[in-house]
Amino acid sequence: MSTPRFETVSLQPEPGEQTALVAYTSRQAEKAGQRAEAVRRQRLRGLLSAEERIRALLDAGSFTELGSHAVHRSSAPGLAERHPPGDAVVTGHGTVGGRPVCCFAQDFSVFGGSLGEVVGEKILRIMELAMDAGAPVIGINDSAGGRIQEGPVAQSLYGQIFARNVQMSGAVPQISLITGPSAGGAAYSPALTDFVVMVDGLSHMFVTGPEVTRQSIGEVVTLEELGGARMHSVRAGTAHYLAATETDAFAWTRALIGYLPRVGERMPCLRPPEAAAATALASAAEVLPQAGEGRDARHALAALLDDGESLEVHAGYAPSVVVAFGRLNGCSVGVVATQPLVDGGALTADACDKIARFVRTCDAYGLPVLSLVDSPASSRGGVLPGVDRSGARLLYAYAEATVPLLTVTTGESAGLAHTALGSRRIGGDLHLAWPAARIDGHDVWTAAGDGVVDEVLLPHETRPHLLRTLWLLRNKRPRQPPKKHDNLPL
Ligand code: HXC
Repeated sequence: MSTPRFETVSLQPEPGEQTALVAYTSRQAEKAGQRAEAVRRQRLRGLLSAEERIRALLDAGSFTELGSHAVHRSSAPGLAERHPPGDAVVTGHGTVGGRPVCCFAQDFSVFGGSLGEVVGEKILRIMELAMDAGAPVIGINDSAGGRIQEGPVAQSLYGQIFARNVQMSGAVPQISLITGPSAGGAAYSPALTDFVVMVDGLSHMFVTGPEVTRQSIGEVVTLEELGGARMHSVRAGTAHYLAATETDAFAWTRALIGYLPRVGERMPCLRPPEAAAATALASAAEVLPQAGEGRDARHALAALLDDGESLEVHAGYAPSVVVAFGRLNGCSVGVVATQPLVDGGALTADACDKIARFVRTCDAYGLPVLSLVDSPASSRGGVLPGVDRSGARLLYAYAEATVPLLTVTTGESAGLAHTALGSRRIGGDLHLAWPAARIDGHDVWTAAGDGVVDEVLLPHETRPHLLRTLWLLRNKRPRQPPKKHDNLPL
């Protein structure tokens, strides 16, 4: 047996190591000073710093930072004298509800959060990591746009970010929070992502500010009118959620992540529906409105989904339709419902665009779509101006979708509302109807007799039927001819 030999380990660092340690400590101190200054400057605006925002969004203790010592390379006046560690963006990864995400937060306290070469490179690096990991990327935007002093280089980096946004679209979910200005080039990138969250009174997303707008086209507009959170949420539809506060924005984003399947997973949470019968509601009264109440789409939606829970998207935009995420037997689904309480559930041009965008998002990330149709306006036959083009996009979105499409006609439906919203003829997998439904001006039995609907059933029998069909279709394979890409009528 040989005698074990122990090497003597010196606890004293070698001179080279000593120097390295001093440099490390000094860099860390510089970074800590910079972060403290960022907090101080943001507090003057009554806001959280970039790093604090990331930590508030992610699971406690999960943030892992990258690139915190990167510095700009510009020698332009105004920049050459100052090299804040990390430049104007904090980047890294962490978890939300235990799920990995990549994230960046622009730091307005450093050169107005403007995007120069190094900031752009850091954002691209995080997007690359998200692609490789198959993890959603969350961007917290608080930026004056392209860094004036780095002019053309900033433009070039924006170009690369836009290209990466498009490359990632439909492959990895991209979520943008706007927590301050998002000006110039900073307005385009969020608009290319899947979800935009804005904070009332705080977020402003615009390409050119009020002064340039006045000078260039002679229009006088306030910042709020030009790019405020309400304008983008209610009128333009750019924003998917209007948060009351930053904290509200973080909470909504966390809930959203919980509904998105992991990349490559198909209906991962779905359980066999043996217990489906047990999930049937006791009576129609639980689904239908009480006497005196209007027919509210949200009521039917809550009665059909697990635990009555859903997360509404685009709530303020085109309110004659409701789109939301929910769960059926544990499986995340997208729900589209025409809202009879608002304009008779009319499919306006904005409503068509709202649904089309949502259905395409669900299809891209593998979420089945449940459509609940009750559109008295459609029975009246009038088609509003502009619906032709948007209606075509709506038809397109359903017809190209390869995820399971389940539709329930709960009230009246005719024309576009009947055909587009997951009818069998457009490629839907299941079309149910309630006994009181009217389809294209006839009673529901005509549609059932013609095979236009698969089954007529009572409202409280609907949920088990949906669960069983979803289980049947859990491995649905797309039937697609080979092609380069489709040609959506934009
Ligand atoms: C570098 C900038 C900057 C910019 C602001 N700052 N904008 N630094 N590049 N683009 C600096 C300011 O000098 C200031 O520095 C600090 O950021 C805060 O700016 P303030 O103006 O004092 O803040 P505030 O009053 O809150 O106004 C914020 C703002 C305003 C509304 C965003 O700064 C603004 O309108 N900026 C210009 C927006 C813009 O036109 N962007 C387009 C860029 S070109 P100090 O050191 O004093 O704190 C672009 C083209 C891309 O993006 C095209 C791609 C296709």
